[in-house]
Amino acid sequence: MDYGATTPVDPNIITAMRPFFEKTFGNPSSIHSYGIDASEMISESRQHVASIIGAHEDEIIFSSGGTESDNLAIKGIAYKHLDKRKTKGPHILTSVIEHPAVLEPIRYLEKLGFSIAYIPVDSTGLIDPKQVEETISENTFLVSIMTANNEIGTIEPIRDIGRITKRHGVLFHTDAVQAIGKVPLDVKKDSIDLLSLSSHKMYGPKGVGALYVKEPVRLEPLFHGGGHEKGMRSGTLNTPGIIGLGKACKLARNRFEKDTKHLEKLRDTLIKNVLQIEESYLNGHPTKRLVNNAHFRFAAIEGESLHMMLDREGIAAATGSACSSKKLKPSHVLLALGLTPEESHGSIRFSIGRTSTIEDIEYVSEKMMPIVESLRKMSPLWNKEEITR
Ligand SMILES: Cc1ncc(COP(=O)(O)O)c(C=O)c1O
Repeated sequence: MDYGATTPVDPNIITAMRPFFEKTFGNPSSIHSYGIDASEMISESRQHVASIIGAHEDEIIFSSGGTESDNLAIKGIAYKHLDKRKTKGPHILTSVIEHPAVLEPIRYLEKLGFSIAYIPVDSTGLIDPKQVEETISENTFLVSIMTANNEIGTIEPIRDIGRITKRHGVLFHTDAVQAIGKVPLDVKKDSIDLLSLSSHKMYGPKGVGALYVKEPVRLEPLFHGGGHEKGMRSGTLNTPGIIGLGKACKLARNRFEKDTKHLEKLRDTLIKNVLQIEESYLNGHPTKRLVNNAHFRFAAIEGESLHMMLDREGIAAATGSACSSKKLKPSHVLLALGLTPEESHGSIRFSIGRTSTIEDIEYVSEKMMPIVESLRKMSPLWNKEEITR
């Protein structure tokens, strides 16, 4: 129940990767046949990655994952505009609910002297494109808004935002790490200039991802070296990882309708069952949400305790996003929806995947009610509320 954190690698992908560890292990930059074989297969993978987002293969830069792709997109553009730091008005627009892989490089740029505007969201996590348009200034060079939120699953109006950035001649970056394979995306129709994706969220291996960089946009590299990936990302290419990512994109494209139907049915059953618990609520948007995401809030419950009790029953869920759940700070995403710190702490995310079954959903649904009840019996908050009820 935590596929949003990561997914198992599809057995077909493992099979496709194996020869690139053992047989076709050549350095894809070498010009002997070992290298050429690897390089040809990398080119095929590039096409698969490009196809899932409607890009051209020349517009795909391979990276080590979502975090690197986000950093490369944001810093890579900002470093081209270092001279703009003295001008007034926001240089970069982003949202308050971005993943730390976007927020942290942006905070770093803020320290370097760039001015940032953080767009708020409504109580369901939606961004208002009008607000994006009103906030763009003549000095804005980049808008970075995620396609879908990793915690609450809300899907943002990417196409409307793309139209606005295009009209204003501003570059548009979207973190699509959670959306790829679940939300249909077309970088041309959606007017996206930069798009981050990561293999391990889509049944591929960890430590590999890609950044779509629209031609003829050029980024300042974060790594300087042999000039790989059109000079934007030096370093010997991770051939097995890239083969895995390519295969993951191909599978996701072929299975899109089947996966969507399956996940939607399971997600909606889970939501219906869990909301039968007294004083339970769904966080995020009721309909504009990822097919695999169900995020709940329970009155007078401590999410960490709920998480631990579920774990004892063999159920893996998430309290914050996986990357930040080791911190005890309330989630910045939930606070941005207008929830109190207590309400944020009483929340939990279930995220399902391709191999989830209706039996899994029934098992979780059955376990949830008694666990919530037993936690509430121990909760001074619940008892106090009961007295006033
Ligand atoms: C929306 C989003 N962006 C970026 C990342 C980071 O991706 P990676 O783990 O590949 O670095 C994640 C991972 O949880 C994510 O959910």
